[in-house]
Amino acid sequence: MNAVFKTFSPENLQIPDWVVHKKLIDWVASIAQLTEPDAVYWCDGSQEEYERFCTQLVEAGTFKRLNPAKRANSFLACSDPTDVARVEDRTFICSDSKEEAGPTNNWIAPDQMRKTLNPLFTGCMRGRTLYVVPFSMGPLGSPIAHIGIELTDSAYVVVNMRIMTRMGKEVFKVLGTDGEFVPCVHSVGAPLQTGQKDVAWPCNPTKYIVHFPQTREIWSYGSGYGGNALLGKKCFALRIASTMGRDQGWLAEHMLILGVTNPQGQKFHVAAAFPSACGKTNFAMLIPPADMQGWKITTIGDDIAWIKPGADGRLYAINPEAGYFGVAPGTNQKTNFNCIASLKENVIFTNVALTDDGDVWWEGLSQAPAHCIDWQGKDWTPEIAKQTGAKAAHPNARFTVSATQNPVLDPQWDNPSGVAIDAFIFGGRRSTTVPLVTEARNWVEGVYMAATMGSETTAAAAGQQGLVRRDPFAMLPFCGYNMSDYFEHWLNLGSRLEKTGAKLPKIFCVNWFRKDQNGHFVWPGFGENMRVLEWILQRVENKSQGVEHVFGTSPRYEDLHWGNTSITPEQFALVTSMDPLAWQEELALHNTLFEQLHHRLPKSLIDAKTALEKRVSAWRQTQ
Ligand code: OXD
Ligand code: MN
Repeated sequence: MNAVFKTFSPENLQIPDWVVHKKLIDWVASIAQLTEPDAVYWCDGSQEEYERFCTQLVEAGTFKRLNPAKRANSFLACSDPTDVARVEDRTFICSDSKEEAGPTNNWIAPDQMRKTLNPLFTGCMRGRTLYVVPFSMGPLGSPIAHIGIELTDSAYVVVNMRIMTRMGKEVFKVLGTDGEFVPCVHSVGAPLQTGQKDVAWPCNPTKYIVHFPQTREIWSYGSGYGGNALLGKKCFALRIASTMGRDQGWLAEHMLILGVTNPQGQKFHVAAAFPSACGKTNFAMLIPPADMQGWKITTIGDDIAWIKPGADGRLYAINPEAGYFGVAPGTNQKTNFNCIASLKENVIFTNVALTDDGDVWWEGLSQAPAHCIDWQGKDWTPEIAKQTGAKAAHPNARFTVSATQNPVLDPQWDNPSGVAIDAFIFGGRRSTTVPLVTEARNWVEGVYMAATMGSETTAAAAGQQGLVRRDPFAMLPFCGYNMSDYFEHWLNLGSRLEKTGAKLPKIFCVNWFRKDQNGHFVWPGFGENMRVLEWILQRVENKSQGVEHVFGTSPRYEDLHWGNTSITPEQFALVTSMDPLAWQEELALHNTLFEQLHHRLPKSLIDAKTALEKRVSAWRQTQ
């Protein structure tokens, strides 16, 4: 199946007989013509193919095979030190007008961007193979799913895409002769001269992660890492899909999806949005505390949700992905037992450390080994770390693993119809001001909560600890169009569904990160979050009480199930406490966001803010 041609036309691409889509074939030929690979390879998605590419990656020095006795069928890749994370400042939304992309996205006019990309992509795959990667985001053939084809010159991308998506020749069956697909072109931007030896992690200092929402195209150049290169994830499933959702009346969200079954066997589904570094994967695999063992949490998705209205007016969600591309550092038996259990075999690790017995290690996994090889290939010992601060694993080191290895995978995770959502949860990281949990009084106030959510940056990230970065709906880096229009889309969808008489999901805001005067977290989090989840689901059923305040409704101490927890009423009082002065300052920060977005900001959100301001100032006067 490996065709070697210097001139690419549909006639000489050696197209397998399972590909019968003329437009697709013409497009592959045109990209091959532009990028001039040595060969074109059509991926079938088989296990044999996956293993063959992994072996090739070992031979190329990109992968190290881990000790099979410790970590069967698993590999470690270490990237170039300049290619370790998503590059938000090199990510572009090239809609027709700047206004359409909005003030929170980098915008360049489509024609101008094409003029920039064309010379970069010309001949960029010389000396390499162009892999045609067919993938479905969501269960194959699901009415909620959509198809993409990624053309890439990276075998590392191919094997990761096989884990992260439903990838393979069945996708062509769904496409048939004229089905729709999102064209995704990816190159590491490192052509090889004849006889030139390749490096273990080819990439280019020039990087462009480009989206053309009007034509639904993705072009990515220069990076082989994560969301920059696995184009089904952030580029398609969020940035392009959010624009498709706007046009077609559905939602593409940066949300995990949980199944929650109560002790009576009644099952609920919850979708939750948290910005990065807020424990999303931990929440998606939560284990209830010992005194709440009757409750069961199952994972449908850990990062992205596609949500479409069903005929009954309810919102149905699927996880468009098929695997987890999770952050390794900090993950351990205690923080996420189920995640560690899913990493026993068949895993691709990127940028973690290699132990002397051929296994992997990262900060926070377990006691540090006496020696290992760090992610940059250097000797690492606890002493070196103490002296130099060197990390064994890069802070953004990742594992790629199939969802099917998760011991608490929800039986409905692959259901093409999706699951009906009962509640949306939005969470930020705030040491003060925002209480543990608040229910919005209605859809508009819920959208307001989500639109204004924020997270405090750490000193390392921002140089100024405690600075609140607004991250509306946790979508700031992922919304493919104007954020104000995105709010409008949520508001319109809510009012449209309300008119059908269907039960809309309730909206909640949570904050696990309140600190005391000494800067210590007060709420233990992890499994204890189940107590909050129970209250949320009882509110969905109108079965539990709470107290209304300026921002919404929160539980009193007696409204939560405490079992044999060690959380005291004083701790609870602290994490739910609210201060009118802090809220006045908070509203000034909301103002800054609204000023940035004012041009197309929906009036109902401005009204919600005015009403909140009035409530806060009346409250201040009573103090
Ligand atoms: C991710 C992210 O990698 O949100 O999922 O950055
Ligand atoms: Mn994410």
